[in-house]
Amino acid sequence: MRIYFEKTHQRSFGTFPLKGEELKQSLMHAIETGYRSIDTAQMYGNEAEVGETLQQIGIPRSELCVTTKVHPDNFPEEHFLPSVEESLEKLRTDYVDVLLLHWPPVGGDIAPSLKLLEKAHKQGYARHIGVSNYTAQMMRDAKEIIDTPLSTNQVEFHPLLNQDVLHTASLETGIPLSSYCSVARGEVFKYPLFAEIAEAYGKTPGQIVLRWILQKGVSINTMSTKPHNISANFDVMDFTLSNIDMARIDALTGTGFRIVDESLVPWAPDWD
Ligand SMILES: NC(=O)c1ccc[n+]([C@@H]2O[C@H](COP(=O)([O-])OP(=O)(O)OC[C@H]3O[C@@H](n4cnc5c(N)ncnc54)[C@H](OP(=O)(O)O)[C@@H]3O)[C@@H](O)[C@H]2O)c1
Repeated sequence: MRIYFEKTHQRSFGTFPLKGEELKQSLMHAIETGYRSIDTAQMYGNEAEVGETLQQIGIPRSELCVTTKVHPDNFPEEHFLPSVEESLEKLRTDYVDVLLLHWPPVGGDIAPSLKLLEKAHKQGYARHIGVSNYTAQMMRDAKEIIDTPLSTNQVEFHPLLNQDVLHTASLETGIPLSSYCSVARGEVFKYPLFAEIAEAYGKTPGQIVLRWILQKGVSINTMSTKPHNISANFDVMDFTLSNIDMARIDALTGTGFRIVDESLVPWAPDWD
């Protein structure tokens, strides 16, 4: 339940949309840098390469936190557990640390997939379970549907988008949030505020963005192919943004810049 509060697991290395040599090199650099939490998904089509690379690197399995996500196409009962077994096989492991439902189901009835997720947990396929792209109401409903605590709701979270409604639901339900699109795929760097604050702290603009997310109580997923960005994104634990700088960044959330919506994915719910 508290896995995302362990210091190492507050910073995950995301693997979308990486494949092939780029995935291998980036993941190897991330592990060398110190990342132990790795995020993949059935949808990314790279679980086998992630598994192969992790095996080659040879870090003890117990030190890694591997997250994968069940594709909504595999939510029907006859596909769910077999798809998880296939993911485990590709990832070359007997269990994942965190198994997420990648999206709410089309139609919005979250109960069947949540119950199957809980079944995967009870069968030992996953140490922890969670969800992704759930709305605040879905977070509240999920608590009533299954008994197993949800370790996270992984959502788009960056300074250009106000996620206060989800944040409140997180505090109410005890389901921690984790971020994706943490640097808004580069869009944040168009705002001079981050460079200005970065200069004052002797950090990079990206580190300021990620530190803001962490200080919101949200664990971070980042992806980069550049060794210097991979290292910088990990090196965010040795400074604290002041309340005033947090508030200056908060003011940007009114921008309302959302990357992942129904124009990109058919499963996107009515966002809060
Ligand atoms: N659950 C979901 O539905 C969902 C959806 C999307 C993503 N995710 C997960 O979240 C991870 C991260 O999200 P994302 O990759 O979509 O978005 P992101 O982390 O906001 O953006 C990644 C892009 O930003 C650049 N970048 C990263 N760090 C940087 C830095 N410090 N300075 C400058 N540029 C930087 C990278 O380019 P360079 O390679 O040039 O550094 C890359 O092109 C994914 O890999 C995936 O695992 C989950």
